[in-house]
Amino acid sequence: MKIDNSVMKIGILTSGGDTPGMNAVIRACYIKAIALNHELIGIKYGWKGLLDNNFIPITDEIEDLIDVGGTLIKSGRTNPLNRDNGIELIKKNMLTNSIDCLIAIGGEDTLGVAQKLHENGIRIVGIPKTIDNDLTSTDYTFGFNTAISIATDAMDKLKTTARSHDRVIVIEIMGRHTGWMTLHSGIASGVHAILIPEFPLSMAQVEDIIKKRYTLGKNWALIAVSEGFGFQESNNETLETDEFGHVNLANMNISKRIAETLATNLSISTRAVVLGHIQRGGPPSAFDRVLCTQLGLKAVDLVNSKEFGKMPSLRGTKIESVKLVDAIKRLKTVDFRSWEVAKSIMKI
Ligand code: F6P
Repeated sequence: MKIDNSVMKIGILTSGGDTPGMNAVIRACYIKAIALNHELIGIKYGWKGLLDNNFIPITDEIEDLIDVGGTLIKSGRTNPLNRDNGIELIKKNMLTNSIDCLIAIGGEDTLGVAQKLHENGIRIVGIPKTIDNDLTSTDYTFGFNTAISIATDAMDKLKTTARSHDRVIVIEIMGRHTGWMTLHSGIASGVHAILIPEFPLSMAQVEDIIKKRYTLGKNWALIAVSEGFGFQESNNETLETDEFGHVNLANMNISKRIAETLATNLSISTRAVVLGHIQRGGPPSAFDRVLCTQLGLKAVDLVNSKEFGKMPSLRGTKIESVKLVDAIKRLKTVDFRSWEVAKSIMKI
């Protein structure tokens, strides 16, 4: 229910890495906004569009895109807080374009910017997204379910070829600082070793797992490794970073390095496979489509009741809301209880 009769023009943007379900969440925002007589306008390329006055009308075309991956309004990794007078420019452009408030769909970086804008008087609501699933204050982020399904499917396929050739295949999985994707897809596809930043196994432990299999005559194995495994940000100050200070971890070649070490130390055939952006592509899963719909509807409810500085969040089976300031306090890393499951499967 609207709390007053004011019609709002809501600017919506998708920022950071694209994530399956972005169109589904915009769709839900559109449907709810129209039902409440508000207007929804797309801001292209994330925060960049707000700095450059680059907008795109959102029409009922979006209503048929629940199953389409990517984002109709494009995404980007511009950090407006790095620009001179970035916040003032955003305020000015919102005023010029009669935009009353914003919905920012993004991960830790985007929501961090959203909180800063909120502190500076901009009316804004966030929506948590990332395939990495590393946001606190929500049980799952949208995109994660789709991404781990893609990774699981890929590893199921790699299993048959590894077995045919008596090979160890090391599969590199996205997730930046956290191992959620590697953990969940690794468990789901029954890999033999799971390597994540939070609970790093040593090379000696990995070699032991492989040697045990070979002793049993099982001359093949799959190893799932997080792209950020063994990566220390502080030791890499000279590496190129994006506007939020993140290194491109795909350049660290962790799967290749592990595969080469195993080949040398154990005299076995190995291969490295980097799943890369395929994990973010294609249609969202049914779970993500439903989650996106719930999040989008709730985000517009928050706007409508003028509860700015918040985001919808999944808690168990319910959609609740949390303050952005609480949601961005820390990253959600893999906890010991989740890791225990992986350890049991790896028999270590
Ligand atoms: O945050 C999502 C993510 O896919 C990470 O898992 C990955 O490290 C990063 O984005 C890749 O970024 P880019 O799309 O810029 O290569």
